[in-house]
Amino acid sequence: MSAAVITLEKQKDLSDKLVIQRPPFGLSLQGRIRIPGDKSISHRALMLGAIAQGETEIQGLLLGEDPRSTASCFQAMGAEISELNTELVRVKGIGLGNLQEPVDVLNAGNSGTTLRLMLGLLASHAGRFFTVTGDNSLRSRPMSRVVKPLQQMGAQIWGRKGNSLAPLAIAGQALKPIHYHSPIASAQVKSCILLAGLATAGKTTVTEPALSRDHSERMLRAFGAELSVDPETNSVTVTGPAQLFGQKVVVPGDISSAAFWLVAGAIVPGSELVVENVGVNPTRTGILEALELMGADIQLENQREVAGEPVADIRVRSSNLKSCTIAGDIIPRMIDEIPILAVAAVFAQGTTIIRDAAELRVKESDRITVMAQQLNKMGAKVSELPDGMEITGGTPLVGTDVDSHTDHRIAMSLAIAALVANGVTTIHRAEAAAISYPSFFQTLTAIVN
Ligand code: S3P
Repeated sequence: MSAAVITLEKQKDLSDKLVIQRPPFGLSLQGRIRIPGDKSISHRALMLGAIAQGETEIQGLLLGEDPRSTASCFQAMGAEISELNTELVRVKGIGLGNLQEPVDVLNAGNSGTTLRLMLGLLASHAGRFFTVTGDNSLRSRPMSRVVKPLQQMGAQIWGRKGNSLAPLAIAGQALKPIHYHSPIASAQVKSCILLAGLATAGKTTVTEPALSRDHSERMLRAFGAELSVDPETNSVTVTGPAQLFGQKVVVPGDISSAAFWLVAGAIVPGSELVVENVGVNPTRTGILEALELMGADIQLENQREVAGEPVADIRVRSSNLKSCTIAGDIIPRMIDEIPILAVAAVFAQGTTIIRDAAELRVKESDRITVMAQQLNKMGAKVSELPDGMEITGGTPLVGTDVDSHTDHRIAMSLAIAALVANGVTTIHRAEAAAISYPSFFQTLTAIVN
């Protein structure tokens, strides 16, 4: 069997071109993989560490571009954060309500979580003025979902298109508590309001239509906030003003990053992979349930709890997949994994239907349109639905030129599809992967046989 050729080339415009040439008789994947830290938990550890009293120690922080944006925003507001590494990052908290007015615009880069969660904190800093922005993608993403509830709490926020797009300007105010019924299941919306509620006297409640990831709730409790959860109604209440104290946080591996290898192991014939130290918080494991529905051979091993989050090693062996239908409450529990699930569906027998996922259209790119276009270029049969996709599996993929549209999850999903495409696939703007998974291509090269 001749070897696969995988090369990453810097282009004149500083973008990366990833070329994957599958050998004529295919390849297989073998090995144990240690994935980087969870992006959602990394953001929250940096933010809560910055606003707590005393020192927070973070082990396993994701060193991707998104958490780096969070760190630099909070440094600009007075938090002392040690050099970022995975071993131990120390954050010297400045105490709730003590973020300093930054002398320049805060730049959240590509990170929706940084911008939306931070807004909740800034809005409640009475007498201080902040301006926030982001990159081209973030400046086109909807902010009214957090601006509106914050305004109901008394926040003063201005921005483009009726205060719905960044750059945004915030004049901090003493806020009043509200009970917000969110029209969407979004952890960013929920967390933004809870963070605003921390400094607000009284009870601030968020009710969401389906349960979204609960990392904020877990970590706020661990830092000492008074928080109650009503699972019957998907409601969370925080009582302010809170007192937060620095903690030791251990960040588990990101299941959203593990998902690329789980799908790769399932669809590349003759493969067996173990992905180690994966966070398996039940609000994130929709991808495991979806892959099991498709007949994937996946086992959770060494299940344990680390610093308040469930963790496991996950073994995957290749198998014949069948189509499935996913919709409803599972969607928020796997929203970031739908691009890679679409790749799995291309290799499954039958037609997979994904619905209730209109949120994909307002992620780092319109992930419904971009995935459909890019996979179809490779010969797949994907049609767009307003709130999802219909994917008919079983047509072989053929390597061609595809583009990440600067979306990290699209870049990595296309790289996995390339492993099973005939010939040569060229993925343009592949550097986007560094947003959440800087070592993705090294790991890819290491496990290909
Ligand atoms: C995140 C929540 C999700 C997810 C994003 C991270 C978080 O966004 O897509 O990657 O850390 O809270 P929404 O809350 O907009 O669904």
